[in-house]
Amino acid sequence: MKVLILPDEQAAVDRAADIVARTVRDAPDAVLGLATGGTMLPLYETLAQRHAAGDVSFARTVSFNLDEYIGLPPEHPCSYHSYMREAFFDRVDIDPSRTHLPRGDAPDPQAAARDYEAAIERAGGIDLQLLGIGRNGHIGFNEPTASLGSRTRIKTLTDSTRQANRRYFDSFDETPRYAITMGVATILASRACLLLATGAAKADAVARMVEGPLSAACPASALQLHAKATVVLDREAAGALE
Ligand code: F6R
Repeated sequence: MKVLILPDEQAAVDRAADIVARTVRDAPDAVLGLATGGTMLPLYETLAQRHAAGDVSFARTVSFNLDEYIGLPPEHPCSYHSYMREAFFDRVDIDPSRTHLPRGDAPDPQAAARDYEAAIERAGGIDLQLLGIGRNGHIGFNEPTASLGSRTRIKTLTDSTRQANRRYFDSFDETPRYAITMGVATILASRACLLLATGAAKADAVARMVEGPLSAACPASALQLHAKATVVLDREAAGALE
């Protein structure tokens, strides 16, 4: 695991954007695994600015997002489909037909999860998987105790994750309880992983991921097994590292 510690959030975001842009420049038809959440917003903003400046094109890029809430249709304003359109897809030249997110409103979510895994395989697997980290060490929506061998499936969200996501919904009650998420093994099958974490609230989870025992108690620690995992941090997120 390569750990890069940058002086502040924008420097960390710029470094992560460099890695994404280089991947797409080297292989214009690269398959990107994408993440949502607050941490990714400045990264998508930076990539959209670089695209507007003519520095990077996503015209031939294929994308697969990590996760989606169960029960939310793509047009719901709090769905990750909406997030991705607003934060990234509508701001760059990516072909919408090459973008993929799990369907949270599928009539048979288990079948949708299996189909999603098959679609990733048909695309030739993921070249670069973007990741954030939850305060409890989750990646995607693989909450603590998630099987390290898991593939795309339905997961129950912990109360701590629902509390963290509650800010996007009208009430805690309306905050979704379930998500469809790539599994830990799906993530580990990517040819490269890039995890971005910023801010002091992530410091403990980052320390458990990088220095803690490899354990399902901290699903992000599974990245210790990955041959090409890069962790980009600002100083605050790196604050609990030895
Ligand atoms: C979202 C996702 C989650 C987030 C994590 C951090 O697609 O995969 O694992 O990356 O919950 O979220 P923020 O960045 O909002 O702290």
